Amino acid sequence: MENKLTFLGHAAFALETGGYQILIDPFLSRNPQASLSAEIVPADFILVTHGHADHLGDTVSIAKRTGALVISTSEIGDWLEEQQVKTHSQSLGGGFHHPFGYLKLTYALHGAGLDGVPHGCGGNPAGLLLTCLDGTKFYHAGDTGLFGDMRLIGEERLDVACLPIGDNYTMGPADALRAVKLLQPKVVIPMHYSREGLLRQDPEAWKSQVEQETATKVRILNPGESISF
Ligand code: NI
Ligand code: MN
Repeated sequence: MENKLTFLGHAAFALETGGYQILIDPFLSRNPQASLSAEIVPADFILVTHGHADHLGDTVSIAKRTGALVISTSEIGDWLEEQQVKTHSQSLGGGFHHPFGYLKLTYALHGAGLDGVPHGCGGNPAGLLLTCLDGTKFYHAGDTGLFGDMRLIGEERLDVACLPIGDNYTMGPADALRAVKLLQPKVVIPMHYSREGLLRQDPEAWKSQVEQETATKVRILNPGESISF
């Protein structure tokens, strides 16, 4: 079985695994980097790490169009249920055997706002740790600062990890390098940065440093590009 991961821009990914189409943090229609339109993207499941607009994105419209099940925290799930979206809620540290694999929500060091809802709270921000049906381990850190318990996630022997490097709202390149040392994934994909503006970073420089100092391979994906694993 092969798993295919496509970068959709910012922190959004499409993962094909076990015969299912899974969207992660589908921020598309308002994202100038997005490589796919929210009106046509297929989805069986949508995973949402936290309630900020650049992650919740087009979740509601895509879920309504496709009938996809949205997996997130209870607080985001309760709000989505009010929008007539099908949901499955989990909490940090809790895992569940979904048809596409075993998904655990992990700790993320970040904010809890629920954008678009005055004083809304999306609960604890999360990362996603997925054990695919073939045993492959995939980790999407969500928005997070560096935290020492990434070492515990690293004990899971990760195949692929997606880590923010944009700084300001999340880890920057230096802390993301330290994160790679704790997580020790076979492959890491940088996300949540841009080539200009507030989150401007140089992913090629980061790749050189990570590959000099660790055994992890860095794959820089442009929006629309995929890797198989
Ligand atoms: Ni955020
Ligand atoms: Mn964000």
